[in-house]
Amino acid sequence: MARNRYDVDETLEDSFDVSQLKRLMKYIAPHKKIMTAVILVMLTSSALTMVIPLFFQRIMDVYIPAKDMKGVVLVTFLTFAIAVCSAVSLRFRIKHMSVVGQSIIHSIRSDIFRHLQELPFSYYDDRPHGKIQVRVVNYVNSLSDLLSNGIVNTLTDLCNLVFIIIFMLICDVRLTVVCLLGLPLLAVVIVFIKKRQRRAWQIQSNKQSNLNAYIAESINGIRVTQSFVREEKNTDIFNDLSRGYRSAWMRAVKYNFTLGPSVDIISAITTSFIYVLGIQWVLAPNDTMTVGKIIAFTAYIGRFWFPINTLASFYNSLLTAISYLERIFETIDEPVLVKDAPGAVEMPPIVGEVEFKDVSFSYEEGHRILDCVNFTAKPGQSFAIVGPTGAGKTTIVNLISRFYNVDSGQVLIDGNDISKVTIHSLRTQMGVMMQDSFIFSGTIMDNIRYGNRDATDEDVIRAAKTVCAHDFISQMEHGYYTEVNERGSRLSAGQRQLISFARALLADPKILILDEATSSIDTETEILLQKGLNELLKGRTSFIIAHRLSTIKNADCIMYVDHGGIVERGTHDELIAQKGEYYHLYISQFDFLA
Ligand SMILES: Nc1ncnc2c1ncn2[C@@H]1O[C@H](COP(=O)(O)OP(=O)(O)OP(=O)(O)O)[C@@H](O)[C@H]1O
Ligand SMILES: [Mg+2]
Repeated sequence: MARNRYDVDETLEDSFDVSQLKRLMKYIAPHKKIMTAVILVMLTSSALTMVIPLFFQRIMDVYIPAKDMKGVVLVTFLTFAIAVCSAVSLRFRIKHMSVVGQSIIHSIRSDIFRHLQELPFSYYDDRPHGKIQVRVVNYVNSLSDLLSNGIVNTLTDLCNLVFIIIFMLICDVRLTVVCLLGLPLLAVVIVFIKKRQRRAWQIQSNKQSNLNAYIAESINGIRVTQSFVREEKNTDIFNDLSRGYRSAWMRAVKYNFTLGPSVDIISAITTSFIYVLGIQWVLAPNDTMTVGKIIAFTAYIGRFWFPINTLASFYNSLLTAISYLERIFETIDEPVLVKDAPGAVEMPPIVGEVEFKDVSFSYEEGHRILDCVNFTAKPGQSFAIVGPTGAGKTTIVNLISRFYNVDSGQVLIDGNDISKVTIHSLRTQMGVMMQDSFIFSGTIMDNIRYGNRDATDEDVIRAAKTVCAHDFISQMEHGYYTEVNERGSRLSAGQRQLISFARALLADPKILILDEATSSIDTETEILLQKGLNELLKGRTSFIIAHRLSTIKNADCIMYVDHGGIVERGTHDELIAQKGEYYHLYISQFDFLA
């Protein structure tokens, strides 16, 4: 099968890293008490059940020859009582461990989500969102079985093994030695499949991630897909990825299915030896071996291999879980590149001076987007940024909010280097309206109030009125309480912009950033909006990016950005007089409109 470009795997760790399991301890630790209680109950119950074969031995070797019915009844009653105890303790384990497992999963999921919320834009720029989702949802869920049952089962199984070996030794030392000879055989099998099995599960988790990334992308892009009639091609790509996932999964479980039967075969071999040798010893004159001992011992063999079998299957699920844990911890360890510097101070109330001092920036190493950019915006000034597509306008305003760190130089607000103040105190004082305005699921009211939860309904309505959004909102079925879907699919592009505009204003920011805020709004509304804005922008420093130059003619300063720097700057009249790039841009729009 040819690999398609969506089938891009993440790199895999080579060695099995036990420290991943140690880190899991941090999540398990708060539940230590209840887990200890469960383990103790399980151990008591299995120690009790361990006595049952000794009862059989007694019946065979003592009570039957002595025709002692009383003894038989007593032992049968005890066996029944032990069975009841064991059922009760099993219920105790299932009940408590399900709760513990789910609580641990909740904590891990919550940690990843909190971390994802803090990760910088650059993290999201670099990877498909579906791959991020799969870590939070599927991988974390896959730990459920390991956490709910795996850990307790393993500890109880290990203790059980020790118990069983003790009981087997009590029963007969020679038979125990024969039985234990099966273990080296099992070790050979495990060594043989271990590495391959781990790799197979890692690959499976990669394929699952690729599939998920494609599903997420397809859902987001469904409109484009349908308008370009790409449904069939996309289904082919999906089927390729899904087939890849299926074969990776089948390769991985193949190894899981090897271990169980191997244990069964080794168990059968040792049992046969025990019968052959045991019966020989019974028949030998002066030997202490009895038929009762052999019967009791074979009952122990079943119990001896049972925990080994479950340990082996635990080992399988451990390998699967580790391949998921690696991905989960990798996300949690992802460095928060844009974070408060040590000793960062609160940004004092912003007056509004914004200065770029020799700022250079690149998204990818070696590919400069801004090269030594310098400008100063005085408090209350409106700065317009224009320039061709891809010139770096959005990049400049992203740096003012510190969505990315500069490579060199400084961004100063009121003389404070923004990399030395806390991000929270910086961003809460800024209003940013991004080029791709996002609407969240919820009401229009919630959407406008998104950045300022303390705002009253009246504040929200006032902001909406300022940006001329009030009229269309009032006309909607439930006005401000109309539910809009995620991404605002029920709204027109211009309506979405107006809502995000109101959202940016509501924070009452001292610095306002509007990236293509009015590109989808009709000219009439824009003129109205401009009037409201002029009032509102008084006393605030604003950065306005616009391709439609009519929007920015009145700005205090217009910067023409291109080739990584500011090519021209000045007022509209000055730039027109200069007859440079801005002039040509303006004339071309004018011609276009004429
Ligand atoms: N997240 C990113 N990762 C890598 N490169 C990026 C990223 N965002 C933008 N770029 C690159 O940086 C350059 C400047 O992008 P920017 O978004 O600042 O342009 P712009 O001037 O706002 O353009 P437009 O008018 O189309 O919005 C572009 O060449 C783009 O390819
Ligand atoms: Mg842009």
